[in-house]
Amino acid sequence: SHPLRLGIAGLGTVGVGVVKIVRQQAALLTARTGREVTISAISARSRTKDRGVNLSQYGWEDDPVVLAQRDDVDVYVELMGGEDGPAKASIEAALAAGKDVVTANKALLARHGQALAEQAEATGRVIRYEAAVAGGIPIIKSLAEGLAANEISRVMGVMNGTCNYILTRMEATGQGYNALFEEAAKLGYLEADPNLDVGGIDAGHKLAILSSLAFGTRIDFDGVELEGIQRISLEDIRQAADMGYRIKLLGVAQLTGRGLEQRMSPCLVPADSPLGQLEGGTNMVVVEGDSVGQIVLRGAGAGEGPTASAVMGDVCDIARGVRYPVFGQPANTLKQAQRGTSTLP
Ligand code: NAP
Ligand code: HSE
Repeated sequence: SHPLRLGIAGLGTVGVGVVKIVRQQAALLTARTGREVTISAISARSRTKDRGVNLSQYGWEDDPVVLAQRDDVDVYVELMGGEDGPAKASIEAALAAGKDVVTANKALLARHGQALAEQAEATGRVIRYEAAVAGGIPIIKSLAEGLAANEISRVMGVMNGTCNYILTRMEATGQGYNALFEEAAKLGYLEADPNLDVGGIDAGHKLAILSSLAFGTRIDFDGVELEGIQRISLEDIRQAADMGYRIKLLGVAQLTGRGLEQRMSPCLVPADSPLGQLEGGTNMVVVEGDSVGQIVLRGAGAGEGPTASAVMGDVCDIARGVRYPVFGQPANTLKQAQRGTSTLP
C-alpha cells in the first residue's frame, strides 16, 4: 500500500519528537500499521535553527497554510500551538483540501474544536488530538474505544504537570509559591504565558475537551469553573498535611441534576489515594464508568517523547484506516437532534 505522508508544522519540543519517532521507528511503524509513514514537508518560523535532528531531506514551507494543502501531504500535523492564528487557519485549510489532521493543541480545541469537528465531518476527514490531553496518557483512545460501552459518571484528574511540580516542591522544600514558580520557569516548564499553567487555564482546556468526549456534549470551555494555584500558601499545605491530605490542582467533570459540572481548582485529596500519591510533573486521569468501575491512568503529561508518542498513536490509527470521529458531539448528531429526527440514543 501507499506510504502515509505527513506534513508537520511546528518543530519545537513536540515536533522534533515526532520527527525522531518517524525516523527511528520506521520499521516498527510499518509493521504495526501495514504502511510506511513518511514526512513530505515541514514548517517552522526559523529555517536555519539547529534542532538536533537532520531535516535536510524534507520539503520546506514558510507558511503552514501552504504546507497543509500540499499534494504530497496526506495528514497535516499541527504542532505550533496558539488558540487562533496560523494553527487554526492551517487546520481549516488542511480539512478543506481533504487532509486528515493530527494536533496537540488543546488551547485551539477548547475554543474552536466544535467548529473544526463539524468542518471535518462535512469534508469526511478526521481530526485526532490524543496529545492535547494529558500528554503521553492515551485517555482519548481509552474513552473513545476501550470504554465506549460505558456510561461515564465522572472524569477527573491532574492534567497540568507544571502545577503539580510546583505544589509537590512546595511540600518537599518548604519554599513558597513565588520561589518555586521561579524554579519552574528556570527549568523551562512554564508555557510562554505562565498564567495558562498556574491560572489553571491549560488544565481547564484539557478538562473541557475530555468532558465533551466523556459525556457526549459540545466542548464548553467557558463552562469550566477555574481557579489557579497562585494563592496556595505553605500554611495551606501544612494544614492539609496535618489532616492527611495533599493539595492538587484537580479537574472534575460530572453530570449532575443541573447538567454538566466542570471544575478545575485546587482540591484536598487524601494523601494515600492514587491522586494523593502523584509526584512532580506527572499527570493522572481517573474515569468512572457504569460497567468498568473506576480506572486510573498515570504518566507523563508533557515532554518530547511522551507527547510525540501520543501524536504518533493518532498517526498510526489514520495509517490503519481507523477513522471514527473522536468528538463528543459530532455535527450530524447535533443537527439531527435539533431537527428532532435523531435516531441516536
Ligand atoms: P514549542 O516548543 O514552542 O514549538 C512551537 C513550534 O512552532 C516552533 O518550532 C515554532 O518555530 C513553530 N511555529 C510557531 N509559530 C509558527 C508559524 N507561524 N509558522 C510556522 N511555525 C511556527 O511548542 P511545543 O512545546 O512543541 O508545543 C506544540 C504544541 O503541542 C502546542 O499546542 C502545545 O500546547 C502542545 N503540547 C505540548 C506539550 C509539551 O510537552 N511541550 C505537551 C502537550 C501538548 P521556531 O522553532 O522556528 O520558533
Ligand atoms: N504546560 C503543560 C503542563 C504542558 O505543564 O502540563 C503539557 O500540556
